[in-house]
Amino acid sequence: TEKELAELVAGGTVDVLDFPKPGIVFKDLMPLFGDGPAFKRVIDGIIAYHDSFDVVAGIEARGFLMAAAIGYSTGAGIVPVRKAGKLPRPAFSASYALEYGEATLEVSEGAFEPGQRVLVVDDVLATGGTAEATLDLIERAGGIVAGFTVLMELGFLDGRQRLSPRPVHALLTV
Ligand code: PRP
Repeated sequence: TEKELAELVAGGTVDVLDFPKPGIVFKDLMPLFGDGPAFKRVIDGIIAYHDSFDVVAGIEARGFLMAAAIGYSTGAGIVPVRKAGKLPRPAFSASYALEYGEATLEVSEGAFEPGQRVLVVDDVLATGGTAEATLDLIERAGGIVAGFTVLMELGFLDGRQRLSPRPVHALLTV
């Protein structure tokens, strides 16, 4: 159930103070990923929530782990949304302000067949800058955003509002 999934995410998260910078409370979800049965349940929960998609896009770095699991389980392909300078071929690029600093994300040109339905996944939605840049990149690359799921949403940072009217699915909102 929804409540069980939220409890799994809460129970698999450790708050790390002052990482990566003083004043930031980093949500470390690696204990959830490291718990095999819990990880399987949250991945299956995400798959069950979404009607249909052709490909899964994971946002670097923890979104890669989620996308790989979802892609393997459903038979969908996976596409990486990468930090700047990592992709070997021409790519679309979008810069954004992060809760701490600034960053650029990239998606390879030709990553999607025109009209392919893309499920986008990441571990945490904070300010929404990462997600906003990602959804923009996916559309520029010819994909149709079929859904966006995160394990944890930091509600007080209003990332959901920034992405509006596009729907956000979060297993847990804190
Ligand atoms: C974290 C998280 C999201 C992003 C959310 O990634 O995994 O991708 O921040 O923040 P936002 O909503 O404010 O944009 P991080 O910057 O730690 O990068 P990493 O996964 O490469 O460590």
